[in-house]
Formats: sequence, structure tokens, C-alpha cells
Amino acid sequence: MKVAVCGKGGVGKSTIAALLCNALINRGYQVLAIDADPSPHLARLLGFKEADQVVPIAEMKELLTARAEKDGPFYSLNPKVDDLPEKFMLRKGDLKLMVLGAVREAGGGCACPEQTVLRRLLSLLLLQSKEAVVVDMEAGVEHFGRATISAIDAVLIVVQPYRGSIETAKQIEKMARDLKVKNIFFVGNNVVSPEDEKFLEEELQKPLLVAFPRDDELARLERQGLPLSETRGLAYQTAELLAEKLEKALSHGT
Ligand SMILES: Nc1ncnc2c1ncn2[C@@H]1O[C@H](COP(=O)(O)OP(=O)(O)O)[C@@H](O)[C@H]1O
Ligand SMILES: [Mg+2]
Repeated sequence: MKVAVCGKGGVGKSTIAALLCNALINRGYQVLAIDADPSPHLARLLGFKEADQVVPIAEMKELLTARAEKDGPFYSLNPKVDDLPEKFMLRKGDLKLMVLGAVREAGGGCACPEQTVLRRLLSLLLLQSKEAVVVDMEAGVEHFGRATISAIDAVLIVVQPYRGSIETAKQIEKMARDLKVKNIFFVGNNVVSPEDEKFLEEELQKPLLVAFPRDDELARLERQGLPLSETRGLAYQTAELLAEKLEKALSHGT
């Protein structure tokens, strides 16, 4: 399965992406996490300390375009995760991490080349049945505008029970639909009461796939700069349910 985690800034994308990676690993998956946020911190949430040593995917461009030349493992038509050159990833057990690209200056620079590389990588990558790619997306809708997620099996739109978050979530849903993404799911976060859930489902006019509760342990670990790998509280249990539901929904393919 190839899953992208999207939503408004601060809504919990990186947190949920990291918890989902951990839950998938516990279900027996090999997981490739891709941090596509221009200010990346998925590495920290996943417990990688050497994130600055990894070569960003953006620099894979020549590799991907030179594919036609047919020399080297990644030039084959449908590369497997294991064919990806080591320098582009960090590894820890069943988890691998790749980082999309150079940090851009505020307000300036275009991420188009990076996103083109990401889209090509995602669409070429051939996954085995117990393999998953989880992409932690840039905030808002920018990625969708550039169609980078057209190679994704499922878009998870993280949404909190407040209007700003809901508006962004609806924009993302519309763009994902326009891009013909087959599986588009809303995932609630910071849902503390049945009223919160009801509010979200009424506004979105669609049920939530799962609703993450507020879990103070997450914020505490984040403040301490610690990974989320040890947490087994309510949020993690919700991530396990999310992994199970995704597996069911996407079981027709990988
Ligand atoms: N369910 C939750 N309960 C408590 N704190 C949360 C929850 N989800 C996210 N947070 C906290 O909110 C902040 C923003 O989350 P983050 O995942 O970085 O958002 P995003 O990646 O969407 O910008 C972090 O400090 C995180 O620990
Ligand atoms: Mg983030």
C-alpha cells in the first residue's frame, strides 16, 4: 500500500504518519516512510538521529530520468524498495526513511522538481504484499495542485474538529477526487468527545475512518524530542485500528 497523510499545518500529519508506520511494522509490514514536508521532522518522531546524513530524494532525479538507459538496478521498469540506492535512505529494522528535498526559504522557491521526482518514484515503485509506503505530506493542498499524489493508493486527510481544518480537508478531498485517487479517507485527530466526532462527520458529510483522541503522551514525547515508537496508549491503539482498516480497504492490491 502507498499511503499519503495530508491536512492543514499542525493538524497532526507527522504524528499520525509516525504512529501508522509503527502500527504497520507491528502487523508484519516492511515500511518505507517518506518525509515530504519541507521542514522535515518525521525522522525524529521515528527515532532516526542521523536524518541530516541522508541524501534527499530530490537528488535522485538523474537516476529516475536515466532509467531508459537500462544500466543499474533502479533503471528497471518497476524497481522494488530494496533496489533503491542505500544513500537515499536510513534503515532501522523493518523501517526505512527517505527525505524529499532541500528546505526551501520562506515564501520563495518552487518545489516542482522535487515533487516530480517523488511522483515518479511513487509510481514506479513496485511493492510486495506486506510492504507499505507512508508519505508525510506538506501542509495544505500544494502537493495536490501539482498532482504528485496521483501514484498513491490512499489519501488520509487528517482533520481536527475546527472549521479551518475542515475547510482545508474539503479542498484536499476535492483535489484528490479530481486526481482520481481511489481511496480517500478522513481521519479525525484531537477528537475528545462524541460531539467532536458528530461535528466532523456532519461538516464533512462522510464518516471518519478512525478518530484519534487527544493523547498527552504524544505532545510530551514531542517536546522531549523523543520518538513515538514506545507509546502504546490510546493514540497508538487508534493507529493499529487504522492500519487494520487500510489493509482491508486496500487488500485488492499492494
Ligand atoms: N492526538 C494528539 N494528542 C495530543 N497531541 C497531539 C495529537 N496529535 C498531534 N499532537 C501534537 O500536535 C503538534 C503538531 O503535530 P504534528 O504531527 O507535528 O502536525 P503536522 O505534521 O500536521 O504539522 C505536535 O506537538 C504533536 O505532538
Ligand atoms: Mg508535519
